Amino acid sequence: MPRPAPLRGIRPTASVEALLATPPATRGFSEEIRAGLMRAGQKELPSKYFYDEVGSALFEVICALPEYGLTRADERILRRHAVDIVSRLPSPSIVAELGSGSGRKTRWILEALSRRHPVTYHPIEISASALARCEKEMSAIAAVSVVGFERPYLDGLLAAAARRQEAECLLVLFLGSTIGNFDRSAGDEFLCQVRGMLRPGDALLLGADLVKPVPTMIAAYDDPLGVTAAFNLNLLARINRELDAQFDLALFQHVARYNEEHQRIEMHLRSRVAQVVPVGAWRDAVAFRPGETIWTENSHKYTPREIVALGERAGFRCDAQWLDQEWPFAQSLLVAG
Ligand SMILES: C[S@@+](CC[C@H](N)C(=O)[O-])C[C@H]1O[C@@H](n2cnc3c(N)ncnc32)[C@H](O)[C@@H]1O
Repeated sequence: MPRPAPLRGIRPTASVEALLATPPATRGFSEEIRAGLMRAGQKELPSKYFYDEVGSALFEVICALPEYGLTRADERILRRHAVDIVSRLPSPSIVAELGSGSGRKTRWILEALSRRHPVTYHPIEISASALARCEKEMSAIAAVSVVGFERPYLDGLLAAAARRQEAECLLVLFLGSTIGNFDRSAGDEFLCQVRGMLRPGDALLLGADLVKPVPTMIAAYDDPLGVTAAFNLNLLARINRELDAQFDLALFQHVARYNEEHQRIEMHLRSRVAQVVPVGAWRDAVAFRPGETIWTENSHKYTPREIVALGERAGFRCDAQWLDQEWPFAQSLLVAG
């Protein structure tokens, strides 16, 4: 990326120079990371930044781990019930998916729907590599045309909803319990915003992981191979790569713990020592006390009733719910009222 010339007549200060040197796409990243690491009290980073090319590839491996039963449960329900799910939708329907990832599980829905009529599928992703993979694989399904959006959830959904024909129903997929990354009140607000972009009769298929024994939940986020640890630590590696920081990954430890009160797994990165980490892009440094953590992700767990109530508060009614017995997981078809 060529470095822009300094503005004529203005002697750049350190911060102006740092801004000019930063490509616009990474400015939001730099600002949010800085706000999260420099805040007083608990340091915190947005989990959406896990998913650069390396993070998206590591997430695919997590989905294959024996301890992470969530993805297989989600897929089992979709595989077994795809025909029933799509039979409940008005015809014709198009599909938009929030945070599609590679879209592997979505194939079952697209195949079932495309047996009724040609289908347009809009994967919505902030990870360019995940989106490219999804577009390539899903466009190989007969009678499915794929138009992806490399955008945040709601921007992408707005764009997808704007493209549909008057007579088309919109099915929104939000799979993999990604809803669990939102705090409960933020999840309420998010579903209300999704509902606000839909018409009555449109539907949201929401996949949510259910509460289960604590050791099972912990193992899913702290596997013995260390893949989830690598996924978590890659956030620091990404900051090193993109913001010229000097995190020594060996001086941070992956932590996954269950918060009983909030019914969620919390992931942290714990500093093993007192340290000061320079971040070149800011010409500044982040100080850590020994044992201090950066909170990187929440994964909330639910009961089936909670999902129904969550949908109702946002203006949906639950048309049907499918549960996986092997790994407690719920797929809920929420219809916009
Ligand atoms: C937990 S993964 C789930 C992927 C897939 N839906 C599944 O069920 O396996 C979350 C996905 O959402 C994407 N994502 C996270 N935050 C996002 C945002 N704000 N807007 C769009 N995509 C986002 C990530 O890049 C990632 O691919």
